[in-house]
Amino acid sequence: MLERLDRIEKEATRELEVARDDEALQAWKVKHLGRSAELGTIFDGLRELDKDERRAVGKRVNEVKTSLEAAYQARLERLRQEGLDRSLREERLDVSLPGRPLPRGRLHPANQMLRQILTVWSEMGFQIYRSREVETDDYNFGLLNMPPHHPARDMWDTFFTTDPGVVLRTHTSPGQIHVMRERAPETIRVVLPGMCYRYEQITSRAEIQFNQVEGLAVGRTITLSDLKGTLNAFARRIFGEQVRTRFRADHFPFTEPSGEMDIECFLCGGEGCSVCKGTGWLEILGCGMVHPTVLTNGGYDPNEFNGFAFGLGPERVAMLKHRIEDIRYFWTNDMRFLEQF
Ligand code: DAH
Repeated sequence: MLERLDRIEKEATRELEVARDDEALQAWKVKHLGRSAELGTIFDGLRELDKDERRAVGKRVNEVKTSLEAAYQARLERLRQEGLDRSLREERLDVSLPGRPLPRGRLHPANQMLRQILTVWSEMGFQIYRSREVETDDYNFGLLNMPPHHPARDMWDTFFTTDPGVVLRTHTSPGQIHVMRERAPETIRVVLPGMCYRYEQITSRAEIQFNQVEGLAVGRTITLSDLKGTLNAFARRIFGEQVRTRFRADHFPFTEPSGEMDIECFLCGGEGCSVCKGTGWLEILGCGMVHPTVLTNGGYDPNEFNGFAFGLGPERVAMLKHRIEDIRYFWTNDMRFLEQF
């Protein structure tokens, strides 16, 4: 019996050494320590032995069992450790490898310019007011002193929707009426940024969509000098302290008088170059004193109130500042262009 136990121990130990994975280890455990293991049958047979033999064999059975259990635990540990070592070795990260750079997002150049312009205006005391992109014909034209069939409407090639009388705004000026109707009879200092749409032939200088920033000031004692002073201050902040400006007469139905502001070409310093087309000046915005009819339509008595307004194109400003020669770059999503800003 004792020899049998020695043999069991020796065989089991040898088998254990060749168990290489969890599965083999599990099978070994069932075979040698499980309920129907040979060791168990010896244990069950103990009671048939005589007293001395029973004691000796019983002791030995327990020894073998304990030693096999310990060997099993040791083997288990060993395999675990080996597995861990292997995965550490095989999956090792080389922390000194250079990382993969994450592509960094940025603001679109049109939005960068728009934000810069709005920051300047808000620092100068103008509130930002957002107005709708889909307008009625009346807001886009009529209330701005262009009744139906007024020839000045031809200045804005318009996208009409299938709803009669509903258009995509061709400029941000209809926002003037919305603000006035909301605020009358309070004084107003606002800028109205946003997308405008025109049914244009797309060229390097004209797009069917673009941003504008409209400005409106309404009060009791506003003069043309206020308009010029304010716009000059704005130009200095955007183009630099040294910039020179000039105002030219123009015509818009919603302002009287109306004008255009030019800045001295900052590329050639007024000498004349390809960007300013030899004139030395760059056209920046349209402006004027709010027409009495427009004030009335906004709910203000033109005998008591007056105001100034202006409209500028941030993409145009960005084109001049960055020497972008084609406005189509703005909406074609070419990363080579966008990544420069
Ligand atoms: N709405 C004009 C345009 O799109 C720009 C403009 C001119 C706006 C004069 C004004 C203004 O407020 O006073 O061409």
